[in-house]
Amino acid sequence: MSGAATGSTWLDEWNRGQDTYVSDRHRDRHFGEVAESIIRLLPARPARVLDYGPGEALFADRVAEASGEVILCEAADSIRARLTARFDGHPKVSVIGPVGLAALAPGSIDLMVVHSVVQYLTPEELDNLLLDAHRLLADDGRLVVGDLVPPQVGLVSDTVDLLRFALRGGFLVDTVRALVRIAVSPYARLRRQHGLRRLTEHEMAAHARRAGLTGQRLRPNLGNNQTRWAFVARRTGTPTGTADSPG
Ligand SMILES: C[S@@+](CC[C@H](N)C(=O)[O-])C[C@H]1O[C@@H](n2cnc3c(N)ncnc32)[C@H](O)[C@@H]1O
Repeated sequence: MSGAATGSTWLDEWNRGQDTYVSDRHRDRHFGEVAESIIRLLPARPARVLDYGPGEALFADRVAEASGEVILCEAADSIRARLTARFDGHPKVSVIGPVGLAALAPGSIDLMVVHSVVQYLTPEELDNLLLDAHRLLADDGRLVVGDLVPPQVGLVSDTVDLLRFALRGGFLVDTVRALVRIAVSPYARLRRQHGLRRLTEHEMAAHARRAGLTGQRLRPNLGNNQTRWAFVARRTGTPTGTADSPG
């Protein structure tokens, strides 16, 4: 799954640059819907939001306006460089890499969002991310993990969902024209090569429990793809171990 056998990981591939959008309009609609979803999750008071694996996060400034503060934590150096340039000097948006997480104060995050990232993580990376969430979440803070891929969802299902989104979003013609290009794109090849991590609610809840979090399915999913699913969790206990240890 991680690509260890092939010598590269999904993170290497994101760092190299994956263009998964059929047009600028598609990209805008995607990031616009993700930002709106995050805004709907905000508590009714100023909140510190951590968006882990934000990608281009085109509208993080809208989330920052609504919440008070957004921290974008991006592991891919190339994407992080673009985010840093985009939000340079913004008073409410900051950009860090994974090492920057260690510098954040324990209990200082009100909402941590991880959207469309977990499918690229190894089980160990997911466990470590959940441990970070456990350390960073405030007592009443929430972790929201979006776009989890259920076992039965594959490239065909994602393509049907893209067509529905395109019809709604006004970029159907671009999408139909791009279908062949998508099928033979580097991203599609990488999906076949590396695979995506698929998780049931039971499996995700078990990962969370090991990190001292309690969670369940959240409806609807963030963003446009409702064949994928979302999970919400809070800190409730102490971490008990990793996938290889009992608990
Ligand atoms: C599909 S993009 C999601 C971006 C954004 N959250 C969104 O919804 O559009 C995948 C994100 O996962 C990140 N990612 C992929 N593999 C990762 C890994 N092993 N560790 C941390 N982040 C990773 C990429 O850098 C990228 O930001």
